[in-house]
Amino acid sequence: MPASATEAAVRAAFARQAGWAKTLGSPFMERLCALLGERLSRDTEVGRRVLGWPDRADPFSDALPLRLAGGLHALVRAGRAPQLAALYPPKALPNEDPLWAALEPVLGDPALLPWLESAPQTNEVGRSAPLMAGLLVVAERFEQPVELLELGASAGLNLHLDRYRYDLGGRPAGDPASPLRLAPDWEGPPPPDAEVRVASRRGVDINPLDPRRDGNRLLAYVWPDQIRRLAQLEAALAVAAGHPAPVDRGDAAGWLESRLAERQHPGTTRVVLHSIAFQYFPAESKARIVAALAEAGKAAGARSPLAWLRYEFDAEDRAVELRLTTWPGGERLLARGHPHGAALSWIAAPAR
Ligand SMILES: C[S@@+](CC[C@H](N)C(=O)[O-])C[C@H]1O[C@@H](n2cnc3c(N)ncnc32)[C@H](O)[C@@H]1O
Repeated sequence: MPASATEAAVRAAFARQAGWAKTLGSPFMERLCALLGERLSRDTEVGRRVLGWPDRADPFSDALPLRLAGGLHALVRAGRAPQLAALYPPKALPNEDPLWAALEPVLGDPALLPWLESAPQTNEVGRSAPLMAGLLVVAERFEQPVELLELGASAGLNLHLDRYRYDLGGRPAGDPASPLRLAPDWEGPPPPDAEVRVASRRGVDINPLDPRRDGNRLLAYVWPDQIRRLAQLEAALAVAAGHPAPVDRGDAAGWLESRLAERQHPGTTRVVLHSIAFQYFPAESKARIVAALAEAGKAAGARSPLAWLRYEFDAEDRAVELRLTTWPGGERLLARGHPHGAALSWIAAPAR
């Protein structure tokens, strides 16, 4: 039997999560996590499982607080906890005692237990904004339709990026009739005025989600007071329901090697893209991806160019960067931005 993390380590993980929620501007999650860390007891099966968390890793890096918070949010959204729902956002931030009084009975609901079993998985559709801005650069450069290949695509919501509408620093893009509008806070000049035409789209994920089957799960992991993110995700799920995008199951490296070995239609630009995914790939996969792109780049030409567009943390984990490499062409740092794509500072340095 695995050893148990100490109860103190579990409580510290909730306190640490509360601190992160504060930093990231979620007062409700801050209060919820702090309260659970202080008052959770072993009176319920949920409390016993959480406080006796198996010592596989530390409870914070196991995302234990987010597992429990996701389960609670799911129950609230499903109408299983009306008294708790009456205190959840968009209602005003509740005081600790009434929130705990509403929480305590819900912690006895066995429907929470499966939420402790798997780590949270997200698909942040706000990242379509930086990716679309990057595609405008690709479209300006090559002026032909793109073939999208997304690594770590989750439910594939960002593969539909041309089906959303955008205001990118005053530059309109995407589908003007879309129910989802993305308008990140913008600094600097707008991206180029170009037309993005998507010829095909396909992705891979080690654990692909189905937007129709897993939509409620994705919504549950959005923090309850992040109202704009919730609305964006709901709109994107509605778009995806009408246009399922194929997301294959597998490791990104082997899948990409197979895709790059396939014939590219002349007159299309092949674009390999990913957002906040590369850091999760094994080191060996990352190295294979970089090598496969460099190799494929040697065969790319003006009629069948290759592009690698990524919105990922920099090497020091300090900032999220939008980078583009094209063959022919070179590498450019296009922008820095918010991890969810809510703000972008456009740089678009010349190709080097
Ligand atoms: C933080 S999520 C980001 C999802 C999506 N790119 C987005 O921006 O919303 C990271 C994704 O990478 C996937 N992933 C992790 N390791 C992987 C691997 N070796 N190959 C493919 N996908 C992987 C995870 O399952 C998860 O869906």
